[in-house]
Formats: sequence, C-alpha cells, structure tokens
Amino acid sequence: QDELKQAVGQAAVDMVLPHLEDRSVIGVGTGSTANCFIDALAAHKGFFDGAVASSEATAERLKRHGIPVYDLNSVATLDYYVDGADEANKYLELIKGGGAALTREKIVAAVARTFICIADESKLVHTLGTFPLPVEVIPMARSHVAREIVKLGGDPVYREGVQTDNGNIILDVHNLQITDPRGIEEKLNAIVGVVCNGLFAARPADVLLLGTSEGVKTLK
Ligand code: A5P
Repeated sequence: QDELKQAVGQAAVDMVLPHLEDRSVIGVGTGSTANCFIDALAAHKGFFDGAVASSEATAERLKRHGIPVYDLNSVATLDYYVDGADEANKYLELIKGGGAALTREKIVAAVARTFICIADESKLVHTLGTFPLPVEVIPMARSHVAREIVKLGGDPVYREGVQTDNGNIILDVHNLQITDPRGIEEKLNAIVGVVCNGLFAARPADVLLLGTSEGVKTLK
C-alpha cells in the first residue's frame, strides 16, 4: 500500500506541475497519502510559491521541506487542493477525517477550484459508511450531538484522547449505511454543536487518482 500511496502522490504532482506558476499556491491535505504528495512536490519547490495546509501536521512537514506555508485568508486563488480520503465512491463523494483534520480539509477544499483526491484502491467502496464517519463537535455539546446522531440511526463513539487543531472533539459514527451522502451531510450539519462532518458530498472531489496494482487510474 505504501507503494500505491507513493504512486498516487507522484501522479498528483505530475497532474498539477504543468499548471503551476511562480505565484501558485497549492492546498495540501493531511494523512499518509497526502504526505507522499508533499514529499514528491518538494522536488519542484522552485516552480511554485507555496502551500496552504489543512492541519498543523501538514504545515510542519511542508516547512521541513522548505515550502512556504500561507494563511488561507491571505491567498487570492487556490487552483488545486490535493488530499487523501478514508473512503470514496464512484461519484467521488468521500469520507474524510480519520486523521481528525476534516474541518480544515473541508474549508480548503471549498476554496480550491479543483480537488484532486489521491487514494489506494482499498479506499474505493460501493456505499460509504463502513469507515466510521468522523464528526467534529464543540466539547460541551458532545452528549447532545451523540443523542441526535442516535436518532439518525448511527452509533457515535467518542474518539478518546483526541483534540482537533480547532480545540474540539471527534465523534466517530458507526453503522450508518450512507445511501444519501448529501442528505446525511446536511442533517449532521444541522445539529447544534456540530462544527463539521467528514462527508464530502456537497463538495466532492473533482478527480480521484486511484493507486491499483495495474497502475494509477483516473476517475472523474
Ligand atoms: C485526515 O483527517 C483524513 O481526512 C485523511 O485524508 C484520511 O484519513 C486519509 O489518510 P491516509 O492517507 O493516511 O489513509
């Protein structure tokens, strides 16, 4: 799987590189696959300006490579956002947030013109929801949100010992058969105390680069 992650990381660099200019800033996601992208991108750091990071961990990695990291608010346009996923379906709807960075990931993805998702083939599923759906919650609303999620048919589990970069907690929702990703995304967002949920359906990926044993496949 590491080789597949490296292959899709490199494929994403190959996809964006011809479009980069001196002033280009790239949105960069979080996780082991995104790390492969960062490491491959670092070889070309003279060809673009810098990056916006979706987490503190990613910002650290970018800086270690000598890639400047910008605040999203100071960036006029973001042509590309490159990030991994925990699950993807053929409509390029995703579950993200296994690394607890879902809110900042969703913000950067919302700003980017093109969201390139990179994943190994184990992430492609028919129906989203086998991977527990992460929900970022304001700490004092934890019990309230958990009760509301039960009403929606899910089994929320508090992710012990995890605090997000925004100072909040994560509930992982098990046993949701997500046949209507957009509907579930909206219903979860409507619960008071929810900051964000890990469904990327209102804003799915634009391109999925999938690492397979037969090479990298491109889904659009
Ligand atoms: C981070 O919060 C997640 O959304 C990651 O993008 C996701 O967990 C994928 O991580 P890996 O590339 O490590 O599988």
